Amino acid sequence: MTTAHLPPLASFWFFNSGSTFVPTVDSLFYFILWLSTFFFVLIVGLMLFFMVWYRHRPGHAPEHSPHHNNLLEATWTIIPVMLVFVIFGLGFSGFMELRTVPDNAFEVQVIAQKWNWSFQYPNGGIAPELHVPKGRPIKLVLQSKDVLHSIFVPAFRMKMDCVPGRYNTCWFEATEATGSDPGDGFELFCAEYCGTSHSTMVSRVVVYDNDADFQKFLEGVIDPRKENNPVIAGQTLYQNRGCVQCHSLDGAARTGPSFKGGWGKEQKMKTGGPVLMDENYIRESILNPMAKVHDGFNPVMPSYQGQLKDDEIYALIAFIKSINIEGFETQWPAIE
Ligand code: CUA
Repeated sequence: MTTAHLPPLASFWFFNSGSTFVPTVDSLFYFILWLSTFFFVLIVGLMLFFMVWYRHRPGHAPEHSPHHNNLLEATWTIIPVMLVFVIFGLGFSGFMELRTVPDNAFEVQVIAQKWNWSFQYPNGGIAPELHVPKGRPIKLVLQSKDVLHSIFVPAFRMKMDCVPGRYNTCWFEATEATGSDPGDGFELFCAEYCGTSHSTMVSRVVVYDNDADFQKFLEGVIDPRKENNPVIAGQTLYQNRGCVQCHSLDGAARTGPSFKGGWGKEQKMKTGGPVLMDENYIRESILNPMAKVHDGFNPVMPSYQGQLKDDEIYALIAFIKSINIEGFETQWPAIE
């Protein structure tokens, strides 16, 4: 952990620096900070100066100020408007950087609940801390089991809400390794008030210096209980809950679209514009199959609202992902 490349005041305002977002976020912060400081000093300074300069004194009659000055008024309107546009532009480009997940990102499932965090890795293993390798984009798929939470890692300048009933995503790429002991990791907080123990809903982010150490962690975290592995659970649900009757796994169309093909891409819908085939789309299709109908298929699927628990829906999504994402199958145990 180092703050060496940050301006001297950085450690006062911010914790430490650990991701590729730091330069973008911090430079905008300092731009706004010094801009505001400049105008604060200018305005307050002039105010104090005029108070003294035009103070009431014996022998001086009060002067009448001019009604208006077009040049002055245009100047103090145009300059702030231009500055606001500059701030908007910088903020928007930073926002896009934070929202655009690289294609090759490694996925970790984040489960927030009152009042703890769990992190599920592609091999099905679960840890109470977030473990990641340095220098590799990490995509977090966020879900909440109860109320609104928000994952916040100050060192990464990353924060995103965990919303019950849907999946949010965010990403980061760590630039600084920490010790492999969870206590040495970057602090991770819940940043959305979520009840009595909100303030203790904290965890850590352990960043490994190299991929080999991270692989060692992954192997150690595999849960031997098969049913805990979402892919295996999803495969079981696929067979036992009737999905298999209408959805193939080999790309062939049956009554419904195949589970293979289309993941992560936009699909044309009967009901209108293209829709991204992601976690939220699958979830909606399970709970409310009529919402958006895949082109070429009739909406004959029953709703599974109330029939599948959140964990089961996610397990089905994990199973669908495992047969669609190249490289994903190697991260999961083999599907028999
Ligand atoms: Cu969870 Cu605050």
